[in-house]
Amino acid sequence: MTAQKQARSNCEMRAQDRHIVIAIDGPAASGKSSVARELAGRLGFVYVNSGAMYRAVTWDILRRGIDPRDHARIDNYLKRARIVCDLQNNESRILINDIDPAEHLRDDNVNNSVSLVSSVPRLRQVLVEKMRHYARDYDLVMEGRDIGSVVFPDTPFKFYIDALPDVRLRRRAAEGQRDEIANRDHADSSRRASPLVKAKDAEVIDASNLSIQGVVSEIAARLRKKGLRVAGPREARRPLL
Ligand code: CDP
Repeated sequence: MTAQKQARSNCEMRAQDRHIVIAIDGPAASGKSSVARELAGRLGFVYVNSGAMYRAVTWDILRRGIDPRDHARIDNYLKRARIVCDLQNNESRILINDIDPAEHLRDDNVNNSVSLVSSVPRLRQVLVEKMRHYARDYDLVMEGRDIGSVVFPDTPFKFYIDALPDVRLRRRAAEGQRDEIANRDHADSSRRASPLVKAKDAEVIDASNLSIQGVVSEIAARLRKKGLRVAGPREARRPLL
Protein backbone atom coordinates (compact mmCIF):
# COMPACT_ATOMS: atom_id res chain seq x y z
CA MET A 1 0.00 0.00 0.00
CA THR A 2 1.40 3.44 -0.91
CA ALA A 3 1.82 6.08 1.79
CA GLN A 4 -0.97 8.08 0.15
CA LYS A 5 -3.38 5.14 0.27
CA GLN A 6 -2.31 4.35 3.80
CA ALA A 7 -2.99 7.94 4.86
CA ARG A 8 -6.35 7.83 3.17
CA SER A 9 -7.39 4.65 4.93
CA ASN A 10 -6.09 6.01 8.22
CA CYS A 11 -8.27 9.09 7.95
CA GLU A 12 -11.78 8.96 9.17
CA MET A 13 -13.49 10.70 6.31
CA ARG A 14 -17.19 11.01 5.63
CA ALA A 15 -18.54 9.09 2.66
CA GLN A 16 -18.56 12.24 0.50
CA ASP A 17 -14.90 12.96 1.23
CA ARG A 18 -13.44 9.80 -0.15
CA HIS A 19 -10.42 11.68 -1.43
CA ILE A 20 -7.68 13.48 0.46
CA VAL A 21 -8.30 17.19 1.05
CA ILE A 22 -5.59 19.62 2.13
CA ALA A 23 -7.36 22.72 3.48
CA ILE A 24 -5.51 26.03 3.38
CA ASP A 25 -7.21 29.05 4.92
CA GLY A 26 -6.07 32.53 5.82
CA PRO A 27 -6.68 36.26 5.40
CA ALA A 28 -6.37 38.27 2.18
CA ALA A 29 -2.99 38.35 0.43
CA SER A 30 -1.38 35.88 2.81
CA GLY A 31 0.01 33.96 -0.18
CA LYS A 32 -2.53 31.12 0.00
CA SER A 33 -3.16 30.87 -3.74
CA SER A 34 0.48 30.59 -4.81
CA VAL A 35 1.21 28.17 -1.96
CA ALA A 36 -1.82 26.01 -2.69
CA ARG A 37 -1.10 25.83 -6.44
CA GLU A 38 2.54 24.86 -5.90
CA LEU A 39 1.65 22.32 -3.24
CA ALA A 40 -1.00 20.74 -5.45
CA GLY A 41 1.60 20.38 -8.21
CA ARG A 42 4.05 18.68 -5.87
CA LEU A 43 1.39 16.29 -4.56
CA GLY A 44 -0.17 15.64 -7.97
CA PHE A 45 -3.51 16.84 -6.55
CA VAL A 46 -6.11 19.15 -8.06
CA TYR A 47 -5.91 22.82 -6.99
CA VAL A 48 -9.20 24.49 -6.06
CA ASN A 49 -9.41 28.25 -5.49
CA SER A 50 -12.69 28.74 -3.60
CA GLY A 51 -12.26 32.53 -3.52
CA ALA A 52 -12.43 32.53 -7.33
CA MET A 53 -15.92 31.03 -7.10
CA TYR A 54 -17.14 33.84 -4.84
CA ARG A 55 -15.40 36.36 -7.10
CA ALA A 56 -16.99 34.92 -10.26
CA VAL A 57 -20.50 35.18 -8.82
CA THR A 58 -19.74 38.70 -7.54
CA TRP A 59 -18.62 39.75 -11.02
CA ASP A 60 -21.81 38.42 -12.59
CA ILE A 61 -24.07 40.00 -9.96
CA LEU A 62 -22.42 43.40 -10.42
CA ARG A 63 -22.60 43.36 -14.20
CA ARG A 64 -26.31 42.56 -13.97
CA GLY A 65 -26.81 45.61 -11.77
CA ILE A 66 -27.86 43.58 -8.74
CA ASP A 67 -27.18 45.38 -5.45
CA PRO A 68 -24.68 43.20 -3.52
CA ARG A 69 -26.62 44.00 -0.32
CA ASP A 70 -29.90 42.70 -1.73
CA HIS A 71 -30.04 39.12 -0.44
CA ALA A 72 -33.50 38.45 -1.89
CA ARG A 73 -32.39 39.40 -5.42
CA ILE A 74 -29.22 37.35 -5.04
CA ASP A 75 -31.28 34.34 -3.91
CA ASN A 76 -33.44 34.82 -6.97
CA TYR A 77 -30.42 35.14 -9.23
CA LEU A 78 -29.08 31.86 -7.85
CA LYS A 79 -32.23 30.04 -8.93
CA ARG A 80 -31.53 30.97 -12.53
CA ALA A 81 -27.76 31.21 -12.94
CA ARG A 82 -25.99 28.13 -14.27
CA ILE A 83 -22.80 27.91 -12.24
CA VAL A 84 -20.49 25.16 -13.42
CA CYS A 85 -17.31 24.31 -11.53
CA ASP A 86 -15.02 22.06 -13.52
CA LEU A 87 -11.30 21.62 -14.12
CA GLN A 88 -8.77 23.01 -16.55
CA ASN A 89 -5.16 21.81 -16.34
CA ASN A 90 -5.80 20.28 -12.92
CA GLU A 91 -7.13 23.57 -11.52
CA SER A 92 -10.67 24.63 -10.70
CA ARG A 93 -12.48 26.74 -13.29
CA ILE A 94 -15.84 28.48 -12.94
CA LEU A 95 -18.27 29.10 -15.77
CA ILE A 96 -21.38 31.19 -15.27
CA ASN A 97 -23.97 30.67 -17.99
CA ASP A 98 -21.10 29.34 -20.14
CA ILE A 99 -18.93 32.45 -19.63
CA ASP A 100 -15.49 32.16 -18.02
CA PRO A 101 -14.97 35.41 -16.06
CA ALA A 102 -11.34 34.58 -15.12
CA GLU A 103 -9.89 37.86 -16.40
CA HIS A 104 -12.33 39.93 -14.30
CA LEU A 105 -11.91 38.22 -10.96
CA ARG A 106 -9.47 40.85 -9.65
CA ASP A 107 -11.32 43.90 -10.99
CA ASP A 108 -11.59 46.75 -8.47
CA ASN A 109 -15.38 46.48 -8.22
CA VAL A 110 -15.10 42.74 -7.54
CA ASN A 111 -12.45 43.36 -4.85
CA ASN A 112 -14.77 45.92 -3.26
CA SER A 113 -17.95 43.82 -3.23
CA VAL A 114 -16.84 40.19 -2.90
CA SER A 115 -17.00 40.15 0.92
CA LEU A 116 -20.55 41.50 0.88
CA VAL A 117 -21.73 39.01 -1.72
CA SER A 118 -20.03 36.08 -0.05
CA SER A 119 -21.88 36.80 3.20
CA VAL A 120 -25.17 35.68 1.57
CA PRO A 121 -25.99 32.32 3.23
CA ARG A 122 -27.76 30.81 0.19
CA LEU A 123 -24.77 31.57 -2.02
CA ARG A 124 -22.48 29.88 0.47
CA GLN A 125 -24.69 26.77 0.47
CA VAL A 126 -24.63 26.59 -3.32
CA LEU A 127 -20.86 27.02 -3.63
CA VAL A 128 -19.93 24.79 -0.68
CA GLU A 129 -21.89 22.00 -2.33
CA LYS A 130 -19.81 22.46 -5.48
CA MET A 131 -16.57 22.52 -3.48
CA ARG A 132 -17.46 19.23 -1.81
CA HIS A 133 -18.31 17.77 -5.18
CA TYR A 134 -14.68 18.09 -6.29
CA ALA A 135 -13.64 15.80 -3.41
CA ARG A 136 -15.85 13.00 -4.70
CA ASP A 137 -13.58 12.59 -7.69
CA TYR A 138 -10.19 14.05 -6.85
CA ASP A 139 -7.55 14.53 -4.17
CA LEU A 140 -7.48 18.27 -3.54
CA VAL A 141 -5.58 21.23 -2.24
CA MET A 142 -8.34 23.79 -1.61
CA GLU A 143 -7.77 27.32 -0.35
CA GLY A 144 -10.17 29.86 1.11
CA ARG A 145 -11.55 31.20 4.37
CA ASP A 146 -13.65 28.35 5.79
CA ILE A 147 -12.28 25.24 4.10
CA GLY A 148 -10.98 23.64 7.32
CA SER A 149 -13.77 24.99 9.54
CA VAL A 150 -16.89 24.43 7.43
CA VAL A 151 -16.35 22.89 4.01
CA PHE A 152 -14.17 19.94 5.06
CA PRO A 153 -14.19 19.95 8.88
CA ASP A 154 -13.17 16.27 9.00
CA THR A 155 -9.97 16.49 6.99
CA PRO A 156 -6.88 15.90 9.13
CA PHE A 157 -4.82 18.17 6.85
CA LYS A 158 -5.60 21.79 7.77
CA PHE A 159 -3.33 24.80 7.54
CA TYR A 160 -3.91 28.44 8.36
CA ILE A 161 -1.48 30.83 6.69
CA ASP A 162 -1.12 34.17 8.39
CA ALA A 163 1.16 37.14 7.76
CA LEU A 164 1.47 40.60 9.28
CA PRO A 165 -0.97 43.13 7.78
CA ASP A 166 1.74 45.37 6.31
CA VAL A 167 3.45 42.39 4.64
CA ARG A 168 0.12 41.41 3.07
CA LEU A 169 -0.56 44.99 1.97
CA ARG A 170 2.86 45.19 0.31
CA ARG A 171 2.25 41.88 -1.45
CA ARG A 172 -1.02 43.07 -2.94
CA ALA A 173 0.47 46.41 -3.98
CA ALA A 174 3.37 44.58 -5.67
CA GLU A 175 0.77 42.69 -7.70
CA GLY A 176 -0.44 46.09 -8.92
CA GLN A 177 -3.83 45.70 -7.28
CA ARG A 178 -5.97 48.20 -5.45
CA ASP A 179 -7.47 46.01 -2.80
CA GLU A 180 -8.72 47.23 0.58
CA ILE A 181 -7.59 44.09 2.34
CA ALA A 182 -8.14 45.51 5.85
CA ASN A 183 -11.82 46.08 4.99
CA ARG A 184 -12.17 42.60 3.54
CA ASP A 185 -10.42 41.01 6.52
CA HIS A 186 -12.79 42.80 8.86
CA ALA A 187 -15.89 41.90 6.83
CA ASP A 188 -14.78 38.27 6.36
CA SER A 189 -13.96 37.79 10.06
CA SER A 190 -17.07 39.45 11.45
CA ARG A 191 -19.80 38.09 9.18
CA ARG A 192 -22.37 35.65 10.53
CA ALA A 193 -22.16 33.00 7.80
CA SER A 194 -18.92 30.99 7.98
CA PRO A 195 -16.55 33.76 9.09
CA LEU A 196 -12.81 33.53 8.57
CA VAL A 197 -11.58 31.64 11.65
CA LYS A 198 -8.68 29.38 12.46
CA ALA A 199 -10.08 25.87 12.69
CA LYS A 200 -9.22 24.47 16.14
CA ASP A 201 -7.08 21.72 14.67
CA ALA A 202 -5.40 23.81 11.92
CA GLU A 203 -1.62 24.15 11.90
CA VAL A 204 -0.72 27.84 11.77
CA ILE A 205 2.11 29.00 9.51
CA ASP A 206 3.34 32.57 9.94
CA ALA A 207 4.39 33.58 6.44
CA SER A 208 5.53 37.11 7.35
CA ASN A 209 9.20 36.24 6.86
CA LEU A 210 8.89 33.33 4.47
CA SER A 211 8.88 33.16 0.68
CA ILE A 212 6.15 31.20 -1.10
CA GLN A 213 8.63 28.31 -1.52
CA GLY A 214 9.45 28.59 2.18
CA VAL A 215 5.79 28.18 3.14
CA VAL A 216 5.35 25.28 0.72
CA SER A 217 8.42 23.53 2.16
CA GLU A 218 7.09 24.01 5.68
CA ILE A 219 3.70 22.53 4.80
CA ALA A 220 5.32 19.73 2.77
CA ALA A 221 7.46 18.75 5.77
CA ARG A 222 4.41 18.59 8.02
CA LEU A 223 2.45 16.55 5.47
CA ARG A 224 5.33 14.10 5.11
CA LYS A 225 5.25 13.58 8.87
CA LYS A 226 1.58 12.67 8.48
CA GLY A 227 2.42 10.06 5.85
CA LEU A 228 1.81 11.88 2.56
CA ARG A 229 4.33 11.72 -0.25
CA VAL A 230 5.21 15.23 -1.39
CA ALA A 231 7.68 15.69 -4.24
CA GLY A 232 10.50 18.21 -3.99
CA PRO A 233 10.34 21.29 -6.25
CA ARG A 234 12.41 19.78 -9.06
CA GLU A 235 10.81 16.36 -8.99
CA ALA A 236 7.39 17.99 -9.27
CA ARG A 237 8.31 19.60 -12.57
CA ARG A 238 9.48 16.37 -14.17
CA PRO A 239 6.92 15.10 -16.70
CA LEU A 240 4.99 12.04 -15.56
CA LEU A 241 6.15 8.81 -17.22
O1 CDP B 1 -6.87 35.98 -2.73
P1 CDP B 1 -7.51 36.80 -1.66
O2 CDP B 1 -6.95 36.50 -0.34
O3 CDP B 1 -7.59 38.23 -1.98
O4 CDP B 1 -9.04 36.39 -1.56
P2 CDP B 1 -9.81 35.24 -2.27
O5 CDP B 1 -9.36 33.92 -1.74
O6 CDP B 1 -9.82 35.44 -3.74
O7 CDP B 1 -11.29 35.49 -1.69
C1 CDP B 1 -12.03 36.65 -2.05
C2 CDP B 1 -13.17 36.80 -1.07
O8 CDP B 1 -14.06 35.69 -1.22
C3 CDP B 1 -12.80 36.83 0.40
O9 CDP B 1 -12.46 38.13 0.83
C4 CDP B 1 -14.08 36.32 1.04
O10 CDP B 1 -15.02 37.37 1.20
C5 CDP B 1 -14.64 35.34 0.02
N1 CDP B 1 -14.34 33.94 0.33
C6 CDP B 1 -15.15 33.32 1.25
O11 CDP B 1 -16.04 33.93 1.81
N2 CDP B 1 -14.96 32.00 1.53
C7 CDP B 1 -14.00 31.31 0.93
N3 CDP B 1 -13.86 30.00 1.20
C8 CDP B 1 -13.14 31.93 0.01
C9 CDP B 1 -13.33 33.27 -0.26
